[in-house]
Amino acid sequence: MDDLREKYLSAIAEAAEETALETLRVQAVGKKGEIKLKMRELGKMTPEERQVAGPKLNALKDEINSALAAKKSALADAALEERLRSEWLDVTLPGRGSARRGGTIHPVSQVTEEVTAIFADMGFAVAEGPQIESDWYNFDALNIPPHHPARQEHDTFFMHRAAEDERPPHVLRTHTSPVQIRAMQAQGAPIRVIAPGRVYRADYDQTHTPMFHQVEGLAIDRDISMAHLKWVLEEFCRAYFEVDKVELRFRASHFPFTEPSAEVDLRCSWQGGQLKVGEGDDWMEILGSGMVHPKVLQAGGIDPAEWQGFAFGLGIDRIAMLKYGIPDLRAFFDSDLRWLRHYGFSALDVPTVQGGLSR
Ligand code: PHE
Repeated sequence: MDDLREKYLSAIAEAAEETALETLRVQAVGKKGEIKLKMRELGKMTPEERQVAGPKLNALKDEINSALAAKKSALADAALEERLRSEWLDVTLPGRGSARRGGTIHPVSQVTEEVTAIFADMGFAVAEGPQIESDWYNFDALNIPPHHPARQEHDTFFMHRAAEDERPPHVLRTHTSPVQIRAMQAQGAPIRVIAPGRVYRADYDQTHTPMFHQVEGLAIDRDISMAHLKWVLEEFCRAYFEVDKVELRFRASHFPFTEPSAEVDLRCSWQGGQLKVGEGDDWMEILGSGMVHPKVLQAGGIDPAEWQGFAFGLGIDRIAMLKYGIPDLRAFFDSDLRWLRHYGFSALDVPTVQGGLSR
């Protein structure tokens, strides 16, 4: 029995493959294996002999079985180790398929950059405010009290009330004008800021989407007049549309937050659907503007007896459509890759302060 033990334990220790282990298992403890045969011999023994040999044989069978199991798992571990050593993948290597395409800069981002660069050159800093705005900042502070008809024109999205008694509820800002108030409160006068950003109104057609972008302008000092407003806007249009000559027409209008108020039209022509700025007999409305209403200055914590200034608001998406010949605003926000590749900009096209792009 000791020979048997020695024979199998060393063979198991030396086995290099699972198949060899299986062969050893059959030979040793299989139905017709050597241990089984020895067990059969027990019947021929005397009871005394059997009492000694029986348990010994059983113990040997258990010992061989557990040696087989241990070796089997050792072989599996070694096989895994070997696979891990031989099969590896460098995930940092570039792909072998089609060359990677660069992404594109969305026209809204591009135009926001262009506008910011142009106004930065005229001394305007960028101001920001929240898109979820209080009713006070979006309306009251801008001289649009409750029940003012201008509120109806804004197609406002109202937020759920945060608390039962929150009345009126917050709104998704309907214009960038609330940033005027926040900037005045934060910086006081004099002040020169633009506020580009998202605004929201419940409206949807070829030139309206429920979310769109405006840029607000605000300049307050002791003697800012409409002449400054006119120069700033002309300068902006020249740089933005990349033309030497622009002609603006100030048309009397009304906004609650400016007095006097003017809508500004740009002289242009449409030849074969192609926009030409600065020539022709058409006038195209591009923005709203005016002298900041004394009540608005007060809401911003600025004394209207000492300070005055202008404000304007224009649609970023709208001027992007005009400059880059994009026909439908809704496609701006569809995330269609073909559209983005067609109308998007290379990250290497950098807006310049003179207007336009440098490549
Ligand atoms: N807030 C106005 C709008 O969204 C635009 C505007 C801004 C007009 C500032 C005048 C002055 O319609």
